[in-house]
Amino acid sequence: MRVLLTGANGQLGSALCEVLGYETVIPKDLPDFNLMHSGVEEEIIGCAPDLIIHAGAYTDVDGAEREPDLAMAVNAKGTEQIARAAVRLRARLIYISTDYVFDGKQRIPYGEEDRPCPINRYGFSKWKGEQAVLTSGARTLVIRTAWLYGTAGKNFVKSIMRAAGSEPILKVVNDQSGCPTYAEDLAAAVASLVEKNIEGVIHVTNRGQCTWYEFAQAIVREMGLGCSIMPITTEQAGRLAKRPPYSVLSPDRLVALGFALPEWSQALKRFAKVAPLPLGYSS
Ligand SMILES: NC(=O)c1ccc[n+]([C@@H]2O[C@H](COP(=O)([O-])OP(=O)(O)OC[C@H]3O[C@@H](n4cnc5c(N)ncnc54)[C@H](OP(=O)(O)O)[C@@H]3O)[C@@H](O)[C@H]2O)c1
Repeated sequence: MRVLLTGANGQLGSALCEVLGYETVIPKDLPDFNLMHSGVEEEIIGCAPDLIIHAGAYTDVDGAEREPDLAMAVNAKGTEQIARAAVRLRARLIYISTDYVFDGKQRIPYGEEDRPCPINRYGFSKWKGEQAVLTSGARTLVIRTAWLYGTAGKNFVKSIMRAAGSEPILKVVNDQSGCPTYAEDLAAAVASLVEKNIEGVIHVTNRGQCTWYEFAQAIVREMGLGCSIMPITTEQAGRLAKRPPYSVLSPDRLVALGFALPEWSQALKRFAKVAPLPLGYSS
């Protein structure tokens, strides 16, 4: 099977290359492959994949408020081109989406059938990407995930580890709840879903939920970092983009298919064993 993977150098993309095998994957990413370019559809046709995993995206949530056209060009228009290529090739298409398609007003985990209602530009652009693939006519699976971290790329875990090296007290929001997800676990789940030929929409995160504050506390504990975490509100954090206060995704469909990802706290323990320590710390 020929698998074309966008966002191949990103957090999930790197983990997917490991899981699927570098020999199976046709990797695509910046700077050679740009989702904003009009030639994306033809480039993919030229590669003739059987399966496209579209993990590439504009992922800067605050940045998308400053440059919404860019976020839309990459996440919505770029995805439209990918979907058109999948239809022409009769290839299967997996689109990686986000918990940020929801507004966070619910207080029970979001199911696949719950109606998206994004409250920031990033979430809106990803939702448009979802619609592009789901209405394209291609055989499609939309995988919504959340709060991703891994060895490659930038993420919250690495930010806490870096900041802990220079600041004794870190302020972290305690009124947003979600599901931290280890890219390695998500990649393994994606590979299993590919094998099972699953279509539609599915939520895939590590199990359990926490706030960013609780997540930061666990990171400090697991990594043995010498700093304390102070809880603050979203308002106090003053970020540019609105965030859903509750974006926990229900694992019910995944469980019904016979999969269960590890608890987020267990996944973090595994990551702690392979994560590079920040400067100033020794193992
Ligand atoms: N990170 C999260 O917490 C999170 C949560 C839920 C869902 N997701 C979704 O999961 C997927 C994977 O996320 P991730 O954390 O692995 O993201 P990531 O590490 O930011 O990787 C995304 C990749 O896409 C590339 N990219 C950006 N703009 C592009 C463009 N114009 N053309 C081609 N490639 C481009 C990035 O390149 P550069 O690094 O050079 O920009 C990067 O290599 C994304 O679809 C994201 O929306 C992520």
